[in-house]
Amino acid sequence: MRIDIITLLPELLDSPFSHSIMKRALSKGLVEIHLINLRDYATNKQKQVDDYAFGGGAGMVMMIEPIDRVITELKLQRSYDEVIFLTPDGERFNQGIANQLSIQQNLILLCGHYKGVDQRVREHLISREISIGDYVLTGGELAAAAMVDCVVRLIPGVLSDETSALTDSFQDNLLAPPVYTRPAVYKDWKVPDILMSGNHTDIDEWRHQQSVDRTRRLRPDLLGDE
Ligand code: ADE
Repeated sequence: MRIDIITLLPELLDSPFSHSIMKRALSKGLVEIHLINLRDYATNKQKQVDDYAFGGGAGMVMMIEPIDRVITELKLQRSYDEVIFLTPDGERFNQGIANQLSIQQNLILLCGHYKGVDQRVREHLISREISIGDYVLTGGELAAAAMVDCVVRLIPGVLSDETSALTDSFQDNLLAPPVYTRPAVYKDWKVPDILMSGNHTDIDEWRHQQSVDRTRRLRPDLLGDE
């Protein structure tokens, strides 16, 4: 998979992709991430990428021209499955969308800033608008980092034990069951006996029941019985 991220703050995205599973996915060639500085596509000397809003009001608006130039250039090189704009008023990101995106070949992510982008970008250049939650960040970069992290770990071969993504919380609309490791007793806090029983049928059943109970208690909306 190839992901092109168009941003005004490429430095902000260096670190999230340089560690652990993301770093391994990149070095194994399972994903390519290209950070593109939108300012490089500004047309005037001042490298201006934002301007006052027509009609007045506080806040600058990202201009269409540099965004059109960069997206057009990318699209001349390959075809893209989605051109995604990260924005708090987009469709709410979830595991289902992550699953869909994880089987795509080429994605463009556009990180918003300032008061927003010229509406014509959203109408003509973008195929999908995504929010990572009902809160406002200073820009789309951290949202893009969260989204890319979530999508990349689902690409086959990225996680060493492929089943581990399948048993994540949300994959089947259930929260994950609790997990434990050694020591079996710490202070007087004990690991549930069933996990020591060696009976994998009973353990699977217990885990499933724990998932259902936790989901009912913590996220009844996932079960549709809020
Ligand atoms: N940009 C600012 N806030 C955002 C959010 N919640 N999701 C996606 N992009 C954003």
